[in-house]
Amino acid sequence: ADGYKMIHKHWHWSGVTGSYDVAAMQRGYNVYAQVCRSCHNLDHLAFRHLGDKGGPFYDEYYKNPNDNPLVKNIAAEYEVIDVNPEDGSEVSRPGIPADYFPPIYRNNAEAAYVNNGAVPPDLSVMVKARNNGADYMYNLLLAYSHPQPEGITLSTGQYYNPVMEGSKIAMPPQLQPQEGVFEYQSDTEGQNPPEATIEQMAADVTEFLAWSADPKLAVRKEAGLMSMVYLLILSVLLWLSYKRIWRRLK
Ligand code: HEM
Repeated sequence: ADGYKMIHKHWHWSGVTGSYDVAAMQRGYNVYAQVCRSCHNLDHLAFRHLGDKGGPFYDEYYKNPNDNPLVKNIAAEYEVIDVNPEDGSEVSRPGIPADYFPPIYRNNAEAAYVNNGAVPPDLSVMVKARNNGADYMYNLLLAYSHPQPEGITLSTGQYYNPVMEGSKIAMPPQLQPQEGVFEYQSDTEGQNPPEATIEQMAADVTEFLAWSADPKLAVRKEAGLMSMVYLLILSVLLWLSYKRIWRRLK
């Protein structure tokens, strides 16, 4: 809307053989943890999922992601509310891989109260929940800088964003070019991280959230490819046996 031109990216995972880029997902997780996490949960994600095959912190050495030290360390950075089995009281403890990402607010009322009346939605399936969700997410994060046309009035806690339906959003701009706000660590494969520009952070967090919304994509594509190979071999065999069976009857 408002003359904003959607940027259509070629994502790593598009196409028949495309898959998520591990380093990009890891950087994207860091953006989530350092920026988005202060308001948005990942309701459908357990820490152990991060270490599943195809996930950002998968390590083939740890077949069981509950044993993966990277996953354990991440889980331990979160505080999980549990029940003390002795007396039923609430206790808070560091997360373990089997835990789901713990909710940030006690309920929607609290979420709305601290966010000017708007509830920050779950991000774990957001890329699937919106049309062209990856492009949507990426552009939503970048579109805050698009010049605001005249005649739009924003109430308190509202921001102009031409990608959002109605061009008004209750989420403040998140990715800003401030020095030192955010710096990428090198990923587990030891590659040097790219510069954390706004575009880079938006693309990386989108890659991570695309994975969280469709974590089985790699496994599915692999199975699809294998079944195509199987069918191809089967076709050749069938054709050869057909030739043989009808050899004398032509
Ligand atoms: C909404 C992404 C950080 C507060 C949303 C939506 C997305 C999103 C995709 C849904 C827009 C829609 O309904 O179509 C992100 C990402 C973040 C981030 C990727 C990190 C880079 C934050 C932070 C806050 C926040 C830190 C709180 C300060 C909100 C609120 C809404 C929202 C209140 C609801 C907006 C509305 O309904 O008008 N966010 N967000 N977000 N976000 Fe964020």
